[in-house]
Amino acid sequence: STQVIEKIETLQQQVRVWKAAGERVGFVPTMGNLHAGHLSLVDALMPCCDRLVVSVFVNPLQFGPSEDFERYPRTFDADRAALEAAGVDVMFHPAVEAMYPTWPQATRVLAAPELAARWEGASRPGHFDGVATVVSKLFNIVQPDAAAFGQKDFQQLRIIETMVAELNYPIEIVRVPIAREADGLAMSSRNQYLDARQRAIAPQLNATLTWAAAQLRSGVVPQIVQEQAQARLLKAGFDQVDYFALCDQATLAPTQVVDNAILLAAARLGSTRLLDNLLL
Ligand code: PAJ
Repeated sequence: STQVIEKIETLQQQVRVWKAAGERVGFVPTMGNLHAGHLSLVDALMPCCDRLVVSVFVNPLQFGPSEDFERYPRTFDADRAALEAAGVDVMFHPAVEAMYPTWPQATRVLAAPELAARWEGASRPGHFDGVATVVSKLFNIVQPDAAAFGQKDFQQLRIIETMVAELNYPIEIVRVPIAREADGLAMSSRNQYLDARQRAIAPQLNATLTWAAAQLRSGVVPQIVQEQAQARLLKAGFDQVDYFALCDQATLAPTQVVDNAILLAAARLGSTRLLDNLLL
């Protein structure tokens, strides 16, 4: 059954026991309010790991002052039940005071600026430094052999891959495809902020990505496709399009080359920002 651990020292002790027995440890960092997307990360590590740790920690360091840290959904009992059903060994659920005995902590990991400055980073200053810092702390605490990240947050995934390479973490990063609702909406804890009208509009983000990919494949130039996609989203009822861009899959810089590119998109329904992307 799933052991709930709140203390960092207890988690470290458990991992030491596993490693002494030669077991391979997999890790999935989350902020909880678990859905099928999170559980697909767990499933992705199952075949390659003897033990699985899932962290549930809403990290204050990655939220801006006017963002949703306070109202971010915290659903401990449901999360524990989901991890139990998925066969996870440990749910690591530290208190903010355990992770940040000094708030705000002075030492930070600077997310690679050329990856972190654009797209989500442009809308959320400091966000990716907060992510890189907490993931670095969690990697040091858990010391996993492998860790899974969702392609839903593709920019975050590229930043973590870069951090792991540049800081020499001996951790295999496993990429997991986007889990979607039946109507195509990428699963997200923030989807529950949407009212019925907004929820009906939301799948148009994925539909527009699919439409744009077809346009690009048939030779329409990216500039035109991007502009038309933004117009479609506004017409569908989105209140703002933060970006809709064809990017290089490695650098996330804008590109005109469709092969091995990714379409990255973020759009707002009221105050809720939805992210999605599509690999070409
Ligand atoms: P959170 O938003 O809870 O997401 C945890 C992990 O689940 C991330 O790797 C994310 O990409 C993945 N995920 C979320 N929705 C998904 C979906 N629909 N399909 C596939 N994967 C999905 O991302 C964070 O938390 C935090 O920034 C964290 C990395 C935990 C650091 O605090």
